[in-house]
Amino acid sequence: MQKIKDKVAFITGGGSGIGLGMARAFSAAGMKVIIADIRRDNLDRAMDVLGEAAEIHPIQLDVTDREAFAAAADEAEQVFGRVHVLCNNAGIGIIGPLRQATWDDWDWNMNVNIGGVINGVQTFLPRMLAHGEGGHIVNTASTGGLYVHGGAGLYCTAKFAVVGLSEALRGELAQDNIGVSAFCPGPTEGRLVESGKTRPAHLSHTGYAEIEKQRQQRAGYLDDVRMPALEAGRRVLEGIRHNDLYIITHPEFRDGIRARCDAVLEAVPQYAPDPKRVKAISFLLSNPIYDYRREVD
Ligand code: NAI
Repeated sequence: MQKIKDKVAFITGGGSGIGLGMARAFSAAGMKVIIADIRRDNLDRAMDVLGEAAEIHPIQLDVTDREAFAAAADEAEQVFGRVHVLCNNAGIGIIGPLRQATWDDWDWNMNVNIGGVINGVQTFLPRMLAHGEGGHIVNTASTGGLYVHGGAGLYCTAKFAVVGLSEALRGELAQDNIGVSAFCPGPTEGRLVESGKTRPAHLSHTGYAEIEKQRQQRAGYLDDVRMPALEAGRRVLEGIRHNDLYIITHPEFRDGIRARCDAVLEAVPQYAPDPKRVKAISFLLSNPIYDYRREVD
């Protein structure tokens, strides 16, 4: 999507961290931006950062609430008109071994980290297809959506799903002039450590209370090496402009990604494929979305 100026973006989790970084980068490029967030205090703080001059509109929204999502989309269209860029970015951090997870841990994780992305797509895709002006969808996964980070099984399960959904959507929407990117940041300025504040009361039974306590005590230990959120937001904008399949911010993860790809390839039988089977299932054997190569400018 080359023409960015005056286009409208809707960013979930836009009140803090990476979502706020996207809002700053998009706004600086002349876009009109809706920031949607479950936390009113984050929205207020974000509006202070973004400044009154910019065309920014905050909406309080829980991405797990489908009716509220539809109402937020209506409000966005009333305020700024058609939405062209959807960033399904809201997410929560939940860390700990799978064996300690409760049903509530699973439900909260899946409801927000993949359910919120699904709800965003279900809400906005019909509207984007109907206006026919093209656009872009960015789904925030993580490097933990590309290979599993130890001790983050629930989180990575959801983030792998975000990557899968993004790839599937990309294939389907190519003909509609709607690009799709899976955004996979590494450590970036943000406040995932505060995720517990948004945990709903009906899903409060956790197996990670002790781990969460330790996590709070260690809060900030990576601050020195985190990428500034604005820089991540600029990378997302660049990814939208280039219609990148993946937007990956951190080169440090290359070896881990390669190791996973190699492990998958290693498991493929080495003997020659059956030509009859190849013919019958040729539609399964490749996908044009992977043919994409970025043009360097
Ligand atoms: P953050 O906590 O600073 O920002 C996330 C925002 O989402 C918060 O303002 C929070 O109130 C909001 N939110 C949480 N649950 C919500 C819900 N149900 N409905 C609406 N809004 C909700 O976190 P950060 O770091 O900016 O993370 C943003 C995204 O990036 C998340 O999806 C996260 O998983 C992903 N990510 C972050 C990394 C990092 O190092 N910061 C690394 C990899 C991925």
